[in-house]
Amino acid sequence: MDEEALVIDPWGSAQSTDYDRIIQQFGLTSLEGRSLPNPTKLHRRGIVFAHRDVEQILEARRTGLPFGVLTGLMPSGQMHLGHSMVVEQAKWFQGLGGDVTIAVADLESQATRGVSLAKGREVALEEYVSHYAALGLNPEKTNVYFQSTRPVVQRLGFQLGKRTNLTEFEAIYGFNGETNLAHVQAPLVQVGDILHPQLDDFGGLRPIVVPVGVDQDPHLRLTRGLAAKTNWFNIKASSSSGLLVSLSVHDENADVFGQLPNGRVDREKVANVFSMVVEIAVGLGFSDIVSSPKQGHVHIPSATSRDKHALQFALLNLERRLGGMGLLAPSSTYHHFAVGMTGSKMSSSQPKTTLFLRDDLAAVEKKIKRAFSGGQATVEEHRRLGGNPDIDVAYQYMMYFFEENDAFLAELNSSFRSGTLLAGEMKQHCIEAASQWMTNLHEMRDQTAHLVPEFLASDSR
Ligand code: TRP
Repeated sequence: MDEEALVIDPWGSAQSTDYDRIIQQFGLTSLEGRSLPNPTKLHRRGIVFAHRDVEQILEARRTGLPFGVLTGLMPSGQMHLGHSMVVEQAKWFQGLGGDVTIAVADLESQATRGVSLAKGREVALEEYVSHYAALGLNPEKTNVYFQSTRPVVQRLGFQLGKRTNLTEFEAIYGFNGETNLAHVQAPLVQVGDILHPQLDDFGGLRPIVVPVGVDQDPHLRLTRGLAAKTNWFNIKASSSSGLLVSLSVHDENADVFGQLPNGRVDREKVANVFSMVVEIAVGLGFSDIVSSPKQGHVHIPSATSRDKHALQFALLNLERRLGGMGLLAPSSTYHHFAVGMTGSKMSSSQPKTTLFLRDDLAAVEKKIKRAFSGGQATVEEHRRLGGNPDIDVAYQYMMYFFEENDAFLAELNSSFRSGTLLAGEMKQHCIEAASQWMTNLHEMRDQTAHLVPEFLASDSR
Protein backbone atom coordinates (compact mmCIF):
# COMPACT_ATOMS: atom_id res chain seq x y z
CA MET A 1 0.00 0.00 0.00
CA ASP A 2 1.04 3.54 -0.74
CA GLU A 3 1.84 5.08 2.62
CA GLU A 4 2.94 8.41 1.25
CA ALA A 5 1.05 11.35 2.67
CA LEU A 6 -1.75 12.66 0.49
CA VAL A 7 -1.51 16.26 -0.60
CA ILE A 8 -4.73 17.80 -1.84
CA ASP A 9 -4.12 20.41 -4.52
CA PRO A 10 -7.14 22.72 -4.83
CA TRP A 11 -6.05 23.85 -8.32
CA GLY A 12 -4.97 20.49 -9.66
CA SER A 13 -6.90 18.16 -11.88
CA ALA A 14 -6.10 15.02 -9.93
CA GLN A 15 -8.59 14.27 -7.22
CA SER A 16 -8.26 11.64 -4.58
CA THR A 17 -11.49 9.77 -3.98
CA ASP A 18 -10.06 7.71 -1.16
CA TYR A 19 -12.42 9.39 1.26
CA ASP A 20 -11.70 7.18 4.26
CA ARG A 21 -8.06 8.00 3.98
CA ILE A 22 -8.82 11.71 3.59
CA ILE A 23 -10.93 11.63 6.75
CA GLN A 24 -8.16 9.88 8.61
CA GLN A 25 -5.20 11.85 7.40
CA PHE A 26 -6.74 15.27 7.71
CA GLY A 27 -8.72 14.66 10.87
CA LEU A 28 -12.20 15.18 9.47
CA THR A 29 -15.16 13.74 11.35
CA SER A 30 -17.33 11.28 9.46
CA LEU A 31 -21.04 12.07 9.20
CA GLU A 32 -21.93 8.40 8.97
CA GLY A 33 -24.68 7.60 11.40
CA ARG A 34 -25.12 11.23 12.48
CA SER A 35 -28.77 12.12 12.14
CA LEU A 36 -29.37 15.62 10.82
CA PRO A 37 -32.45 17.80 10.88
CA ASN A 38 -34.47 17.72 7.69
CA PRO A 39 -31.66 16.15 5.64
CA THR A 40 -31.37 16.66 1.88
CA LYS A 41 -30.75 13.75 -0.47
CA LEU A 42 -27.03 14.58 -0.33
CA HIS A 43 -27.09 13.95 3.42
CA ARG A 44 -29.39 10.94 3.32
CA ARG A 45 -27.16 9.25 0.74
CA GLY A 46 -23.84 9.88 2.41
CA ILE A 47 -22.70 12.24 -0.36
CA VAL A 48 -22.06 14.93 2.24
CA PHE A 49 -19.78 12.64 4.16
CA ALA A 50 -17.65 14.52 6.66
CA HIS A 51 -17.24 17.74 8.60
CA ARG A 52 -15.20 19.80 10.98
CA ASP A 53 -17.03 21.20 14.00
CA VAL A 54 -20.47 21.13 12.45
CA GLU A 55 -21.79 20.53 15.97
CA GLN A 56 -21.32 24.20 16.78
CA ILE A 57 -23.65 25.07 13.90
CA LEU A 58 -26.29 22.53 14.90
CA GLU A 59 -26.04 23.71 18.49
CA ALA A 60 -26.57 27.33 17.43
CA ARG A 61 -29.63 26.22 15.54
CA ARG A 62 -30.98 24.24 18.50
CA THR A 63 -30.54 27.15 20.86
CA GLY A 64 -31.83 29.71 18.38
CA LEU A 65 -28.52 31.57 18.09
CA PRO A 66 -27.42 33.02 14.77
CA PHE A 67 -25.03 31.23 12.47
CA GLY A 68 -23.80 31.93 8.98
CA VAL A 69 -22.84 30.02 5.85
CA LEU A 70 -19.98 31.13 3.65
CA THR A 71 -19.13 29.63 0.35
CA GLY A 72 -17.44 30.76 -2.82
CA LEU A 73 -17.58 30.38 -6.55
CA MET A 74 -14.90 30.58 -9.16
CA PRO A 75 -16.29 32.73 -11.98
CA SER A 76 -14.68 30.96 -14.90
CA GLY A 77 -16.52 28.79 -17.36
CA GLN A 78 -20.05 27.53 -17.17
CA MET A 79 -21.86 26.32 -14.09
CA HIS A 80 -22.29 22.56 -14.13
CA LEU A 81 -24.13 20.01 -12.05
CA GLY A 82 -21.20 19.51 -9.68
CA HIS A 83 -21.43 23.15 -8.65
CA SER A 84 -25.06 22.72 -7.67
CA MET A 85 -24.15 20.55 -4.69
CA VAL A 86 -22.83 23.47 -2.69
CA VAL A 87 -25.99 25.41 -3.49
CA GLU A 88 -28.17 22.58 -2.25
CA GLN A 89 -26.24 22.57 1.03
CA ALA A 90 -26.28 26.34 1.40
CA LYS A 91 -30.03 26.22 0.87
CA TRP A 92 -30.33 23.54 3.52
CA PHE A 93 -28.39 25.60 6.07
CA GLN A 94 -30.49 28.61 5.08
CA GLY A 95 -33.59 26.58 5.83
CA LEU A 96 -32.16 25.82 9.28
CA GLY A 97 -31.84 29.55 9.93
CA GLY A 98 -28.39 30.48 8.64
CA ASP A 99 -27.58 33.63 6.72
CA VAL A 100 -25.64 32.96 3.52
CA THR A 101 -22.63 34.84 2.17
CA ILE A 102 -21.17 33.96 -1.22
CA ALA A 103 -17.72 35.04 -2.32
CA VAL A 104 -17.18 35.54 -6.01
CA ALA A 105 -13.51 34.56 -6.28
CA ASP A 106 -12.81 37.07 -9.04
CA LEU A 107 -9.31 37.81 -7.77
CA GLU A 108 -8.48 34.13 -7.63
CA SER A 109 -9.98 33.55 -11.04
CA GLN A 110 -8.00 36.41 -12.51
CA ALA A 111 -4.76 35.29 -10.90
CA THR A 112 -5.00 31.56 -11.50
CA ARG A 113 -7.12 31.35 -14.66
CA GLY A 114 -6.56 34.63 -16.46
CA VAL A 115 -10.19 35.79 -16.28
CA SER A 116 -10.49 39.59 -16.21
CA LEU A 117 -12.44 41.13 -13.34
CA ALA A 118 -15.07 42.45 -15.76
CA LYS A 119 -15.50 39.03 -17.34
CA GLY A 120 -15.56 37.43 -13.89
CA ARG A 121 -18.41 39.67 -12.87
CA GLU A 122 -20.39 38.85 -15.96
CA VAL A 123 -19.85 35.10 -15.59
CA ALA A 124 -20.71 35.23 -11.88
CA LEU A 125 -24.05 36.90 -12.51
CA GLU A 126 -25.13 35.19 -15.69
CA GLU A 127 -23.87 31.70 -15.02
CA TYR A 128 -23.83 31.34 -11.26
CA VAL A 129 -26.10 33.74 -9.41
CA SER A 130 -28.91 33.25 -11.93
CA HIS A 131 -28.77 29.53 -11.22
CA TYR A 132 -28.50 30.05 -7.47
CA ALA A 133 -31.77 31.94 -7.74
CA ALA A 134 -33.28 29.21 -9.90
CA LEU A 135 -32.18 26.52 -7.44
CA GLY A 136 -34.11 28.28 -4.69
CA LEU A 137 -31.71 30.24 -2.54
CA ASN A 138 -33.54 33.04 -0.78
CA PRO A 139 -32.22 36.43 -1.95
CA GLU A 140 -33.31 38.09 1.28
CA LYS A 141 -30.95 35.89 3.28
CA THR A 142 -28.11 35.71 0.76
CA ASN A 143 -25.31 38.19 0.12
CA VAL A 144 -23.10 37.79 -2.90
CA TYR A 145 -19.94 39.89 -3.00
CA PHE A 146 -16.77 40.16 -5.08
CA GLN A 147 -13.33 39.59 -3.59
CA SER A 148 -12.02 42.53 -5.61
CA THR A 149 -14.44 45.07 -4.17
CA ARG A 150 -14.47 44.08 -0.52
CA PRO A 151 -11.22 45.50 0.88
CA VAL A 152 -11.64 43.98 4.32
CA VAL A 153 -11.32 40.50 2.80
CA GLN A 154 -7.93 41.36 1.34
CA ARG A 155 -6.87 43.18 4.49
CA LEU A 156 -7.69 40.19 6.68
CA GLY A 157 -5.71 37.95 4.36
CA PHE A 158 -2.75 40.29 4.59
CA GLN A 159 -2.93 40.59 8.37
CA LEU A 160 -3.17 36.86 8.89
CA GLY A 161 -0.38 36.19 6.43
CA LYS A 162 1.86 37.29 9.23
CA ARG A 163 1.03 34.10 11.12
CA THR A 164 2.05 31.62 8.48
CA ASN A 165 5.05 31.04 6.23
CA LEU A 166 6.23 29.25 3.13
CA THR A 167 7.11 26.11 5.03
CA GLU A 168 3.52 25.78 6.14
CA PHE A 169 2.31 26.41 2.58
CA GLU A 170 4.69 23.77 1.37
CA ALA A 171 3.23 21.30 3.83
CA ILE A 172 -0.41 22.17 3.16
CA TYR A 173 -0.37 22.73 -0.60
CA GLY A 174 2.79 21.03 -1.77
CA PHE A 175 4.24 24.33 -2.99
CA ASN A 176 7.88 24.65 -3.97
CA GLY A 177 10.26 27.28 -5.26
CA GLU A 178 8.60 27.30 -8.68
CA THR A 179 5.15 28.06 -7.33
CA ASN A 180 3.58 31.16 -8.80
CA LEU A 181 2.92 33.73 -6.10
CA ALA A 182 -0.69 34.12 -7.20
CA HIS A 183 -1.14 30.69 -5.68
CA VAL A 184 0.35 31.97 -2.46
CA GLN A 185 -1.96 34.97 -2.33
CA ALA A 186 -5.16 33.22 -3.35
CA PRO A 187 -5.39 31.10 -0.17
CA LEU A 188 -4.86 34.17 1.98
CA VAL A 189 -7.69 35.97 0.23
CA GLN A 190 -9.82 32.87 0.76
CA VAL A 191 -8.95 33.00 4.46
CA GLY A 192 -10.32 36.56 4.37
CA ASP A 193 -13.47 35.31 2.61
CA ILE A 194 -14.07 32.66 5.21
CA LEU A 195 -13.40 34.73 8.31
CA HIS A 196 -14.86 38.14 7.48
CA PRO A 197 -18.57 37.35 7.96
CA GLN A 198 -17.94 37.22 11.70
CA LEU A 199 -16.54 40.74 11.82
CA ASP A 200 -18.80 43.29 13.46
CA ASP A 201 -19.66 44.99 10.15
CA PHE A 202 -20.69 41.73 8.51
CA GLY A 203 -22.99 40.10 11.02
CA GLY A 204 -20.75 39.86 14.06
CA LEU A 205 -19.34 36.93 16.00
CA ARG A 206 -21.24 33.76 15.21
CA PRO A 207 -20.30 30.30 13.99
CA ILE A 208 -19.74 30.11 10.24
CA VAL A 209 -19.95 26.92 8.23
CA VAL A 210 -18.28 26.42 4.87
CA PRO A 211 -19.78 23.69 2.67
CA VAL A 212 -17.20 22.62 0.08
CA GLY A 213 -15.80 19.82 -1.98
CA VAL A 214 -12.98 18.08 -0.23
CA ASP A 215 -10.48 19.70 -2.63
CA GLN A 216 -10.97 22.93 -0.67
CA ASP A 217 -10.06 21.43 2.69
CA PRO A 218 -6.47 22.74 2.59
CA HIS A 219 -7.91 26.25 2.75
CA LEU A 220 -9.98 25.30 5.76
CA ARG A 221 -7.03 23.80 7.56
CA LEU A 222 -5.10 26.97 6.91
CA THR A 223 -7.96 29.22 8.00
CA ARG A 224 -8.70 27.30 11.18
CA GLY A 225 -5.06 27.31 12.13
CA LEU A 226 -4.69 31.02 11.51
CA ALA A 227 -7.84 31.91 13.43
CA ALA A 228 -6.62 29.89 16.40
CA LYS A 229 -3.18 31.52 16.29
CA THR A 230 -4.69 34.99 16.64
CA ASN A 231 -6.75 34.11 19.72
CA TRP A 232 -5.86 35.91 22.95
CA PHE A 233 -7.27 33.22 25.22
CA ASN A 234 -6.71 29.48 25.04
CA ILE A 235 -8.98 26.87 26.51
CA LYS A 236 -7.84 23.39 27.27
CA ALA A 237 -8.92 20.44 29.35
CA SER A 238 -7.30 20.36 32.75
CA SER A 239 -5.37 17.23 33.63
CA SER A 240 -7.42 16.93 36.83
CA SER A 241 -10.90 17.99 35.78
CA GLY A 242 -12.64 20.88 34.11
CA LEU A 243 -11.26 23.51 31.77
CA LEU A 244 -8.27 25.82 31.94
CA VAL A 245 -8.22 29.27 30.40
CA SER A 246 -4.79 30.77 29.74
CA LEU A 247 -3.55 33.90 28.02
CA SER A 248 -1.79 33.78 24.69
CA VAL A 249 0.57 36.73 24.51
CA HIS A 250 1.20 38.37 21.11
CA ASP A 251 2.59 41.72 19.98
CA GLU A 252 -0.97 42.98 19.66
CA ASN A 253 -1.98 42.26 23.24
CA ALA A 254 1.29 42.54 25.14
CA ASP A 255 0.30 45.97 26.44
CA VAL A 256 -3.22 44.97 27.49
CA PHE A 257 -1.85 41.80 29.09
CA GLY A 258 0.71 43.82 31.07
CA GLN A 259 3.81 42.38 29.42
CA LEU A 260 6.25 45.25 29.59
CA PRO A 261 8.89 45.75 26.86
CA ASN A 262 11.68 45.26 29.43
CA GLY A 263 10.42 41.74 30.08
CA ARG A 264 8.75 42.62 33.37
CA VAL A 265 5.12 42.19 34.17
CA ASP A 266 2.59 44.80 35.20
CA ARG A 267 0.81 42.81 37.90
CA GLU A 268 -2.11 45.13 38.07
CA LYS A 269 -2.90 44.72 34.39
CA VAL A 270 -2.55 40.96 34.64
CA ALA A 271 -4.87 40.88 37.64
CA ASN A 272 -7.33 42.99 35.74
CA VAL A 273 -7.41 40.59 32.77
CA PHE A 274 -7.75 37.58 35.07
CA SER A 275 -10.66 39.18 36.86
CA MET A 276 -12.37 39.73 33.53
CA VAL A 277 -11.95 36.05 32.71
CA VAL A 278 -13.37 35.12 36.12
CA GLU A 279 -16.30 37.44 35.52
CA ILE A 280 -17.02 35.60 32.28
CA ALA A 281 -17.04 32.25 34.05
CA VAL A 282 -19.40 33.69 36.67
CA GLY A 283 -21.60 35.01 33.89
CA LEU A 284 -21.83 31.49 32.48
CA GLY A 285 -23.08 30.24 35.85
CA PHE A 286 -19.92 28.76 37.38
CA SER A 287 -19.19 29.46 41.02
CA ASP A 288 -16.15 27.29 41.65
CA ILE A 289 -13.43 29.24 39.82
CA VAL A 290 -9.74 29.19 40.68
CA SER A 291 -7.80 32.14 39.33
CA SER A 292 -4.01 31.69 39.37
CA PRO A 293 -2.29 34.57 37.58
CA LYS A 294 1.07 33.24 38.74
CA GLN A 295 0.53 29.88 37.05
CA GLY A 296 -1.00 31.69 34.13
CA HIS A 297 -4.46 30.20 34.10
CA VAL A 298 -8.01 30.28 35.38
CA HIS A 299 -9.29 26.85 36.32
CA ILE A 300 -12.99 26.00 36.15
CA PRO A 301 -13.13 22.48 37.65
CA SER A 302 -16.80 21.77 36.97
CA ALA A 303 -16.74 22.87 33.32
CA THR A 304 -17.06 20.04 30.82
CA SER A 305 -16.20 19.84 27.14
CA ARG A 306 -19.82 20.75 26.47
CA ASP A 307 -19.24 24.16 28.06
CA LYS A 308 -16.33 24.84 25.78
CA HIS A 309 -18.26 26.55 22.98
CA ALA A 310 -20.05 28.97 25.29
CA LEU A 311 -16.83 29.76 27.13
CA GLN A 312 -14.93 30.28 23.92
CA PHE A 313 -17.64 32.50 22.57
CA ALA A 314 -17.60 34.73 25.63
CA LEU A 315 -13.80 34.92 25.59
CA LEU A 316 -13.79 35.91 21.91
CA ASN A 317 -16.22 38.69 22.73
CA LEU A 318 -13.94 39.79 25.59
CA GLU A 319 -10.98 39.71 23.21
CA ARG A 320 -12.86 42.00 20.83
CA ARG A 321 -13.70 44.43 23.61
CA LEU A 322 -10.00 44.51 24.47
CA GLY A 323 -9.00 45.27 20.87
CA GLY A 324 -8.35 41.83 19.36
CA MET A 325 -9.94 40.27 16.30
CA GLY A 326 -11.77 37.59 18.26
CA LEU A 327 -11.93 35.07 15.42
CA LEU A 328 -13.75 31.76 15.72
CA ALA A 329 -12.41 28.87 13.62
CA PRO A 330 -14.95 28.04 10.89
CA SER A 331 -16.87 24.80 10.62
CA SER A 332 -17.01 22.94 7.34
CA THR A 333 -18.80 20.12 5.57
CA TYR A 334 -17.48 18.06 2.69
CA HIS A 335 -19.15 16.33 -0.20
CA HIS A 336 -18.03 13.55 -2.50
CA PHE A 337 -17.46 14.44 -6.11
CA ALA A 338 -19.84 13.06 -8.69
CA VAL A 339 -18.01 11.11 -11.38
CA GLY A 340 -17.66 12.64 -14.80
CA MET A 341 -20.05 11.26 -17.39
CA THR A 342 -17.21 9.52 -19.20
CA GLY A 343 -16.17 7.81 -15.98
CA SER A 344 -13.21 10.13 -15.37
CA LYS A 345 -13.18 13.42 -13.46
CA MET A 346 -15.92 15.99 -14.01
CA SER A 347 -14.40 19.10 -15.52
CA SER A 348 -15.77 22.28 -17.08
CA SER A 349 -13.03 22.25 -19.65
CA GLN A 350 -14.18 18.85 -20.92
CA PRO A 351 -17.84 19.27 -21.88
CA LYS A 352 -18.44 15.57 -22.36
CA THR A 353 -17.70 14.90 -18.71
CA THR A 354 -20.57 16.89 -17.29
CA LEU A 355 -23.98 18.44 -17.80
CA PHE A 356 -23.93 22.22 -17.83
CA LEU A 357 -26.94 23.90 -16.36
CA ARG A 358 -27.57 25.61 -19.71
CA ASP A 359 -27.43 22.40 -21.76
CA ASP A 360 -30.62 21.84 -23.74
CA LEU A 361 -32.57 18.63 -23.48
CA ALA A 362 -31.13 17.20 -26.66
CA ALA A 363 -27.59 17.63 -25.34
CA VAL A 364 -28.61 16.13 -22.00
CA GLU A 365 -30.06 13.09 -23.69
CA LYS A 366 -27.03 12.65 -25.90
CA LYS A 367 -24.56 12.89 -23.02
CA ILE A 368 -26.49 10.42 -20.88
CA LYS A 369 -26.80 7.95 -23.76
CA ARG A 370 -23.02 8.05 -24.17
CA ALA A 371 -22.27 7.98 -20.47
CA PHE A 372 -20.05 5.35 -18.94
CA SER A 373 -22.09 2.30 -18.05
CA GLY A 374 -21.87 -0.15 -15.18
CA GLY A 375 -23.66 -2.80 -17.18
CA GLN A 376 -22.18 -5.93 -18.77
CA ALA A 377 -21.02 -6.13 -22.37
CA THR A 378 -24.04 -8.10 -23.58
CA VAL A 379 -27.65 -8.37 -22.43
CA GLU A 380 -27.20 -12.06 -21.82
CA GLU A 381 -24.22 -11.44 -19.55
CA HIS A 382 -25.99 -8.61 -17.79
CA ARG A 383 -28.99 -10.79 -17.00
CA ARG A 384 -26.68 -13.49 -15.70
CA LEU A 385 -24.09 -11.44 -13.79
CA GLY A 386 -25.89 -8.18 -13.02
CA GLY A 387 -24.51 -4.65 -13.29
CA ASN A 388 -22.61 -2.39 -10.95
CA PRO A 389 -24.55 0.76 -10.00
CA ASP A 390 -21.53 2.13 -8.11
CA ILE A 391 -19.82 2.90 -11.39
CA ASP A 392 -22.88 3.38 -13.55
CA VAL A 393 -23.00 7.07 -14.43
CA ALA A 394 -26.73 7.17 -15.16
CA TYR A 395 -27.45 5.69 -11.74
CA GLN A 396 -24.92 7.93 -10.03
CA TYR A 397 -26.44 11.06 -11.58
CA MET A 398 -29.89 10.09 -10.41
CA MET A 399 -28.50 9.54 -6.94
CA TYR A 400 -26.54 12.81 -6.82
CA PHE A 401 -28.85 15.12 -8.72
CA PHE A 402 -32.11 14.04 -10.25
CA GLU A 403 -33.99 11.51 -8.12
CA GLU A 404 -35.46 12.66 -4.83
CA ASN A 405 -37.28 9.43 -4.05
CA ASP A 406 -35.04 7.14 -1.95
CA ALA A 407 -37.25 4.08 -2.31
CA PHE A 408 -37.33 4.32 -6.08
CA LEU A 409 -33.58 4.81 -6.17
CA ALA A 410 -33.05 1.73 -4.00
CA GLU A 411 -35.24 -0.25 -6.37
CA LEU A 412 -33.17 0.85 -9.37
CA ASN A 413 -30.03 -0.07 -7.50
CA SER A 414 -31.10 -3.61 -6.64
CA SER A 415 -32.71 -4.41 -9.97
CA PHE A 416 -29.61 -3.21 -11.79
CA ARG A 417 -27.41 -5.24 -9.51
CA SER A 418 -29.49 -8.36 -10.00
CA GLY A 419 -29.56 -7.93 -13.75
CA THR A 420 -33.29 -7.39 -14.21
CA LEU A 421 -32.75 -3.72 -15.09
CA LEU A 422 -30.60 -3.25 -18.18
CA ALA A 423 -28.04 -0.51 -18.69
CA GLY A 424 -30.08 1.06 -21.49
CA GLU A 425 -33.15 1.07 -19.24
CA MET A 426 -31.20 2.76 -16.47
CA LYS A 427 -30.14 5.43 -18.92
CA GLN A 428 -33.73 5.90 -19.99
CA HIS A 429 -34.76 6.47 -16.37
CA CYS A 430 -31.95 8.94 -16.00
CA ILE A 431 -32.87 10.79 -19.19
CA GLU A 432 -36.44 11.15 -17.96
CA ALA A 433 -35.46 12.39 -14.53
CA ALA A 434 -32.78 14.69 -15.92
CA SER A 435 -35.12 16.17 -18.52
CA GLN A 436 -37.68 16.93 -15.85
CA TRP A 437 -35.06 18.44 -13.55
CA MET A 438 -33.53 20.58 -16.28
CA THR A 439 -36.89 21.74 -17.62
CA ASN A 440 -37.87 22.79 -14.15
CA LEU A 441 -34.53 24.53 -13.62
CA HIS A 442 -34.83 26.45 -16.88
CA GLU A 443 -38.36 27.53 -16.02
CA MET A 444 -37.29 28.64 -12.58
CA ARG A 445 -34.35 30.53 -14.07
CA ASP A 446 -36.73 32.57 -16.21
CA GLN A 447 -39.04 33.17 -13.30
CA THR A 448 -36.30 34.25 -10.91
CA ALA A 449 -34.10 36.21 -13.34
CA HIS A 450 -35.38 39.50 -11.94
CA LEU A 451 -34.13 38.51 -8.47
CA VAL A 452 -30.44 38.35 -9.45
CA PRO A 453 -29.63 41.95 -8.42
CA GLU A 454 -31.22 41.32 -5.02
CA PHE A 455 -28.59 38.71 -4.25
CA LEU A 456 -25.83 41.27 -4.48
CA ALA A 457 -24.54 42.86 -1.29
CA SER A 458 -24.78 46.63 -1.27
CA ASP A 459 -21.03 47.01 -1.85
CA SER A 460 -21.26 44.80 -4.94
CA ARG A 461 -24.16 46.22 -6.95
N1 TRP B 1 -11.31 28.51 -4.28
C1 TRP B 1 -12.71 28.23 -4.53
C2 TRP B 1 -12.82 27.42 -5.84
O1 TRP B 1 -11.84 27.14 -6.48
C3 TRP B 1 -13.55 29.46 -4.57
C4 TRP B 1 -13.60 30.15 -3.24
C5 TRP B 1 -13.09 31.37 -2.98
C6 TRP B 1 -14.19 29.67 -2.04
N2 TRP B 1 -13.34 31.71 -1.68
C7 TRP B 1 -13.99 30.71 -1.09
C8 TRP B 1 -14.83 28.50 -1.66
C9 TRP B 1 -14.44 30.56 0.21
C10 TRP B 1 -15.26 28.36 -0.34
C11 TRP B 1 -15.06 29.40 0.58
O2 TRP B 1 -13.90 27.06 -6.25
